[in-house]
Amino acid sequence: MWPDLIKKAKDGGLNAIETYVFWNAHEPLRRQYDFSGNNDLIRFIQTVKDEGLYAILRIGPYVCAEWNYGGFPVWLHNMPGIEMRSANNVFMNEMQNFTSLIVDMMKKESLFASQGGPIILAQIENEYGNVISSYGDVGKAYINWCASMAKSLDIGVPWIMCQEDDAPEPMLNTCNGYYCDQFTPNNPNTPKIWTENWTGWFKNWGGLDPKRTAEDVAFAVARFYQNGGSLQNYYMYHGGTNFGRTAGGPYITTTYDYDAPLNEYGSLNQPKYGHLTQLHNILRSMERTLTYGNVTSTDYGNSVFGTVYSIDNTSSCFFGNANVTSDATVNYQGVDYNIPAWSVSILPDCKTEVYNTARVNIQTNLMVKESNQAEDEPASLKWSWRPEINLEQTLVQGKGQVSTSMIVDQKVTNDVSDYLWYMTSLNVDKDDPIWTDDMSIRVNATGHILHAYVNGEYLDSQWATYGIFNYVFEKKVKLNPGKNQITLLSATVGLQNYGPKFDVVQSGISGPVEIIGRKGDETIIKDLSLHKWSYKTGLHGLDNKIYNSDSKFSAQWNSDNLPLNKMLTWYKTTFKAPLGEDPVALDMQGLGKGLAWVNGNSIGRYWPSYMAQEDGCSTEACDYRGSYYSSKCDTNCGQPTQRWYHVPRSFFQDGVNELVLFEEFGGNPTLVNFQTLRVGTVCGSAYENKDMELSCQGRPISAIKFASFGDVQGTCGSYYKGTCAGQNDALSIIQNACVGKETCTVSATESTFGAANCTEDISKRLIVEAVC
Ligand code: GAL
Repeated sequence: MWPDLIKKAKDGGLNAIETYVFWNAHEPLRRQYDFSGNNDLIRFIQTVKDEGLYAILRIGPYVCAEWNYGGFPVWLHNMPGIEMRSANNVFMNEMQNFTSLIVDMMKKESLFASQGGPIILAQIENEYGNVISSYGDVGKAYINWCASMAKSLDIGVPWIMCQEDDAPEPMLNTCNGYYCDQFTPNNPNTPKIWTENWTGWFKNWGGLDPKRTAEDVAFAVARFYQNGGSLQNYYMYHGGTNFGRTAGGPYITTTYDYDAPLNEYGSLNQPKYGHLTQLHNILRSMERTLTYGNVTSTDYGNSVFGTVYSIDNTSSCFFGNANVTSDATVNYQGVDYNIPAWSVSILPDCKTEVYNTARVNIQTNLMVKESNQAEDEPASLKWSWRPEINLEQTLVQGKGQVSTSMIVDQKVTNDVSDYLWYMTSLNVDKDDPIWTDDMSIRVNATGHILHAYVNGEYLDSQWATYGIFNYVFEKKVKLNPGKNQITLLSATVGLQNYGPKFDVVQSGISGPVEIIGRKGDETIIKDLSLHKWSYKTGLHGLDNKIYNSDSKFSAQWNSDNLPLNKMLTWYKTTFKAPLGEDPVALDMQGLGKGLAWVNGNSIGRYWPSYMAQEDGCSTEACDYRGSYYSSKCDTNCGQPTQRWYHVPRSFFQDGVNELVLFEEFGGNPTLVNFQTLRVGTVCGSAYENKDMELSCQGRPISAIKFASFGDVQGTCGSYYKGTCAGQNDALSIIQNACVGKETCTVSATESTFGAANCTEDISKRLIVEAVC
């Protein structure tokens, strides 16, 4: 997808692409590197270069990014004596090794701008300023070391440190957040750089879909440049998908859509993409005045500011109104300009307003999903299945790979799998003081999911909720006199990626694990924590890669008696790839939780049975005015947190394709199906005297459902006429101009739509809803 995404970013008016570098993806085992396939960083930067764009390389190597363990390889954690993100020799040695490796690779291909390449900035560390205080004096020593280490790599372009307000020279301190117009770098002689303009927010299991309006993002960008900004980068412009086990958190979803201008599937998120494209083009047209001009600012009161950049005889103006509710009128050189609340108007020649961040003249796209149209593809998939391999070894025999007399943090496994089996046995006789009719097992865990078995029988499961990852599992048990086998399967859902000393946050079963006997008022506790515990990492099916068609277990699948809602079960089906080029989603409706592969490629963790919270959504259109916060305009209340999973077309092959699921919780695969996504409805919008453009993106416009010129109310999909509307029949005007065409353009004028007789304070708009 890279060339297409990069091309769309360029068409969107960007001139640089910023990327993190993920240490754990590139050095999964110490000194064993992986730059193949999707990890081919050189190819990525080359693709950016081939498109004629600059690149910003955020090496970190700590990155955060809702990425597993913040990008650190978990083997680091298991190095004796290590203290991460600290002036600790073991850590600094590893960090320097990886950072220099990346720098050397880039140098070898001449990719730094100093060598004629596209990379104009590189980053070391990430947001250390947010956590430095918890590291004490060592923190300061570490950040100084980061600076001198980076400097010594001599890349010929500046290094940045995001969110580091005491960044040592020559590091540039940069900003991140929803707004950075008030940011000033610690060194006043350095440019004002915004490394992360959060276009939306990420999603967690159980959480809602964050949305940030196009108007508010545009307002933030325009204000940044009004206030002397030099460079801003979107985080994310395209967030995409956390394939495999790359999602961190814990509990970050597989989708990382982020409500970014390019959605998870790489399609245009309109109107955000288009509204920002117009802004970029206008800002770039003002490059000379913005970069060389003298600046004069005027405070008009009530949070209204004007800024004029001028050089020679040319000037460019911004009028910003940061008032949350009141619109403003600015009189500049004898002309009145209306500036809606929470908006910025841009006048590249200080005369004509060409853009206002609150007036969106771009269509809204609503996507639809269609069932797989491949030839001869049956309406439902035909499944075969098999239980997880050799389960009796763990459930009954308690057989592991290693054993020790303690309960271990799950990170000891180097995080090669989500799964770790904790197994112990307990001898108890009927005359043991603990023996009663009321015995329980109690497990203290730090997450994220626990499945408990006693003597081969399933007891129960428990899992954490986002943000609260420690819990106590307690359940009645019936023990046998003599030996009892206790097997606990722990599953992580992405390791911690943020916070002070996030790397030492415990995962898995922390203990104690206890048997509790209750007799009347008396409670007797047997602590099993120091028993002999055996451990097995992962699952036999994963070890044997049974999701690959060449696995030695590939023949051992049953096609009869498909089990439903059965834990630890593998399912397999074949299908033909959907026809056409529209992006593809896998509808996982009916399933519990697990992992999925298409032709051996992991499409990530799935968990459609985890419902998003019920409250926190509004049916009203989101008000772009006022400071954004991540839950401001949430959607998807009470729905599965994530029902659809992106399958990139590059995962498909001609002919027969294979889908394999590992169902951890138990689910019903019979409703699972592949769907394609396309633009289904488009809603055009243009303020008076602007052009309304409608496009079904390669398909014809088939019908017009609504059209009106006036003060239309509602949102795309549910518009209705307001108090005033043009006298002509807007619907038939638009039908004539648009139906049957792939795109059409109509001017929003009274000469076309007739006098609307709206009151003075109304900004008239042409609004159209069309079916593609
Ligand atoms: C930032 C961090 C990013 C990402 C973002 C939230 O603070 O630098 O990596 O985690 O928050 O999406």
